[in-house]
Amino acid sequence: MSEAARRRLVILGGGEHARVVVEAIRAEPEAWDILGFVDPEAREETARALRMNRLGDDEWATQFIAREDVWLALGVGSVGPPTAREAIVTRFDAKGARWATIIHPRAWISPTASVEPGGQVLVGAVVNARAALGAHTLVNSGAIVEHDVYVEPLVHIAPGAVIGGGTFIGKGAYLGLGCRVRDHIRVGRGAVVGMGAVVVASVADAETVVGVPARPVEK
Ligand SMILES: CC(C)(COP(=O)(O)OP(=O)(O)OC[C@H]1O[C@@H](n2cnc3c(N)ncnc32)[C@H](O)[C@@H]1OP(=O)(O)O)[C@@H](O)C(=O)NCCC(=O)NCCS
Repeated sequence: MSEAARRRLVILGGGEHARVVVEAIRAEPEAWDILGFVDPEAREETARALRMNRLGDDEWATQFIAREDVWLALGVGSVGPPTAREAIVTRFDAKGARWATIIHPRAWISPTASVEPGGQVLVGAVVNARAALGAHTLVNSGAIVEHDVYVEPLVHIAPGAVIGGGTFIGKGAYLGLGCRVRDHIRVGRGAVVGMGAVVVASVADAETVVGVPARPVEK
């Protein structure tokens, strides 16, 4: 792709997840021209480590995207419900945001799988045949989303998690580090699966489960 064809991109957030996303983008430098990151704080460590400018805060960014031809990448992660990520998406959607879909060149996406705008599939992840990832879904390093899994928006599948074929993952669910989720079940909207859990049966909306086999956490 020529220099002129590289699309201009702003990273929203300057914390830990932003640094991972930037490295995924830079692994394929011909696709995007990163202008810098946006964060309410100075984030000097990120600016130094990534040799990248902090452009301003969210208010600056909303004005910038209204007048410039630019794409956005969400650099804010979440452990548990994606409250902060959803608030940012809602705010920028209201301003007509265009969300970049970020696929690390060393992830595998089946040609029959789909990823909605804003999806991020990070290094070593696998998204298998006919899996469908909703907008702003994050499939983190080394996670496996098996065939025919349907994932609603704003789900985070943490590093090393494995989702069996044909499973449904509801909006905003969080699947922790290294968990295993049985095939053909339902993980409810806003559910949280603890790290290392083995989920053998469907999980209700907003329920948190942990352990092997996974059981609801007592409130
Ligand atoms: C399930 C989880 C969200 C609960 O977090 P929390 O509400 O802060 O809970 P706590 O750490 O206070 O633990 C509460 C109890 O649950 C237990 N527990 C917590 N996580 C557990 C897990 N994954 N498996 C089994 N037990 C767990 C704790 O031992 C503790 O038990 P106790 O009351 O008998 O001492 C969290 O432990 C977890 O798994 N987070 C995922 C982390 C992750 O995926 N990070 C990836 C970042 S990219």
